[in-house]
Amino acid sequence: MVERIAEIRAEAEAAIAEASSTAELGELRVRFLGRGAELTLILRGIAELPAEQRGAVGKSGNQARGALEKLITDRGEELDASELERSVSEERVDVTLPGAPSPAVGHLHLITRTRRRIEDTMVGLGYRVMEGPEVELDHYNFTALNHPPGHPARMAQDSFYVAPGSVSAAALESAAVSLDEAVVLRTHTSPMQTRAMEAQGPPIFIVIPGKVYRRDSDATHSPMFHQVEGLAVGEGITLADLQGTLTEMLRAIFGEGREARMRPHYFPFTEPSVEFDVSCYRCEGGGKLADGSRCPLCKGVGWIEVGGAGMVDPNVFGFVEENGYPPDTTQGFAFGFGIERIAMLRHDVPDLRRFFDNDVRMLEQF
Ligand code: PHE
Repeated sequence: MVERIAEIRAEAEAAIAEASSTAELGELRVRFLGRGAELTLILRGIAELPAEQRGAVGKSGNQARGALEKLITDRGEELDASELERSVSEERVDVTLPGAPSPAVGHLHLITRTRRRIEDTMVGLGYRVMEGPEVELDHYNFTALNHPPGHPARMAQDSFYVAPGSVSAAALESAAVSLDEAVVLRTHTSPMQTRAMEAQGPPIFIVIPGKVYRRDSDATHSPMFHQVEGLAVGEGITLADLQGTLTEMLRAIFGEGREARMRPHYFPFTEPSVEFDVSCYRCEGGGKLADGSRCPLCKGVGWIEVGGAGMVDPNVFGFVEENGYPPDTTQGFAFGFGIERIAMLRHDVPDLRRFFDNDVRMLEQF
């Protein structure tokens, strides 16, 4: 029995010396000193041995046990130290590396980005950006813009009236109240022409982006949409300046090499009035694609309609005469167009209403 103990001890000492990790050492502790280990069983069985063997077996067994425990503890400390050293060198954190990139937080809506692009261009041409009220007096939205009383846009079925107190849409319809006192969700950004001229004498060069409201809803119309208004009033400003300004603006939006075209049109508050187009950027204005087929964007016309413009009507200046705009000597131009339309054209969006559905699958594409 004493010999067997010596064997176990030798075997264990060799194994402990060779152990290469604290985990392996833990296994050796169980194998040689655990409850089921041979040495443990020998020590536990001493009482059953013949009396003359008990002393010797007990002594060598306990010595072996004590020695192995100390060996394991010592070896454990050695391994602990070298494992720590290794992890310190191998798992070193490079504190000079940049931090983890912050998760994407989204981006500006395409309409906002388009609006800012237009603003930047106009600011580059010397214009100031102004904003105005969306809930507007009929006076600014229609009257001061020379809309005759019977103009269809003044009718409740075409515009959203806000009824303050007793002024109802029905009362408006029957002309029981003066239209001029009525309040309307502005149907265009043009009311800011008069407001701006009331606030500042000439020369004035401003652009007014903002929301406008009309009773319209289909693939190219939404009850709320955005426009940009432009107003330039100063000495000697002519239709030729309008042409040049539109050309610069359209090139900034649709690319170098684009041309602007004006066609005769009618607006109550400009005279003469035009609609303006940009030369088609898909077919380069030729109306045909490279393979000879009709250009699908401009429908073979070579031009794409963008907005309305004209020379400010003297009757409009008549409303701001006292602010430094005598109608018989003041000249200037105004233009206006929809921002959604620009974004739809530039990004091939087929339905304007998608801009306002707030479906991120649609919005995150831009
Ligand atoms: N306000 C006009 C519209 O909404 C556009 C326009 C602006 C026309 C300025 C002429 C001058 O249709």
